[in-house]
Amino acid sequence: MLLDAHHRPVKDLRISVTDRCNFRCTYCMPFAEYSAWIDRHELLTYEEIARVAAIFLELGADKIRLTGGEPLVRKNLEDLVAKLSALPGLRDLCLTTNGALLTEKAVALKAAGLKRLNVSLDSLDAEKFKRISQRGDLPRVLEGLKAAQRAGFERIKINAVIERGVNDDEILPLAEFARANGFAVRFIEFMDVGNSNDWTLQKVVPKKEMLERIAARYPLERVGREDGSAPAVDYRFADGAGDVGVIASVTEPFCGDCTRARLTADGKLVTCLFSRDGHDLKTMIRSGASDESLREFISALWRNRTDRYSEERLEAMNSAQGYEAKSHKKLEMIVLGG
Ligand code: GTP
Ligand code: 5AD
Ligand code: SF4
Ligand code: SF4
Repeated sequence: MLLDAHHRPVKDLRISVTDRCNFRCTYCMPFAEYSAWIDRHELLTYEEIARVAAIFLELGADKIRLTGGEPLVRKNLEDLVAKLSALPGLRDLCLTTNGALLTEKAVALKAAGLKRLNVSLDSLDAEKFKRISQRGDLPRVLEGLKAAQRAGFERIKINAVIERGVNDDEILPLAEFARANGFAVRFIEFMDVGNSNDWTLQKVVPKKEMLERIAARYPLERVGREDGSAPAVDYRFADGAGDVGVIASVTEPFCGDCTRARLTADGKLVTCLFSRDGHDLKTMIRSGASDESLREFISALWRNRTDRYSEERLEAMNSAQGYEAKSHKKLEMIVLGG
């Protein structure tokens, strides 16, 4: 089995299909001026993406997640879904989206073989939603969620990034919305991804506090991580009204079991969400590399992988020097797809 330097197998491939997005969430893409947009010709084609995915499946991965930017702004994403869902060895095929285009896309995605959907939703207040997403429209996302349910998607997850002073008052309303409508909500600690979201520890609402706030109203029972390596720790409502999860990459990092590789829209392989750089596969692909040489290149990279950024962050936070987010240059979240 292919293992990295900390004995972690590669199980999940997260594929960013575009760095473009129809939102500008303040925790992800606060930059007004950004010039590093990926040129259209630099995007991997769906054929190229499927080829890389097939190699990952041969190397032991069995789960693929499509992300962005916003993946649904790339034309005919369902064509890629259809190609990927035909690959042997694939157990789970999921999409992370902001939901704005789901009303138009849900039926085609389902028909193409998409198994699961995670939809970002940080506020149920239309004005606050607009303030956070800068361009989003809450009713449209809510309609998208309904359309996805109508299209037959089950176990839809809602991702809510919680930032103190911004939307920490939405924890209970979001939990109630999820309970009432059959969604599983996951509350996400605000992370210092990218270089410009002005992250500070004070803005993070720790997992412990989020759980206390929910449990004070709706008692919870711990379930644990879905497959041992999932970012979320799940809890069930004691009254049987569903599940809630918390993704605590700041206060309880989960690097020890991190089995995730990331492929950027321009074909770079990235071994950690907090990486400074990726490793160029596209040039190899476009200069005629064989599957065998791609497999060897990817295997060598994975074998040498030592990333454990969030654990190192916690160690630094607990040390005398402390942790300074700005002193670490990272790839932007829209390039990596989270
Ligand atoms: P499931 O397959 O449904 O469990 O999805 P997921 O939680 O793996 O994916 P999703 O795209 O919904 O991500 C939810 C949140 O977890 C996002 O904020 C991600 O950035 C964060 N996340 C996912 N993987 C990692 C990781 O490897 N490290 C860190 N630090 N955060 C991650
Ligand atoms: N901290 C935590 N989660 C984030 N996401 C984007 N930026 C951040 C951040 N700074 C989340 C989005 C989406 C997922 C892919 O990543 O809300 O649900
Ligand atoms: Fe777009 Fe998602 Fe980033 Fe928001 S979090 S700006 S929806 S990519
Ligand atoms: Fe994996 Fe890096 Fe996230 Fe740790 S910080 S869980 S190594 S992606």
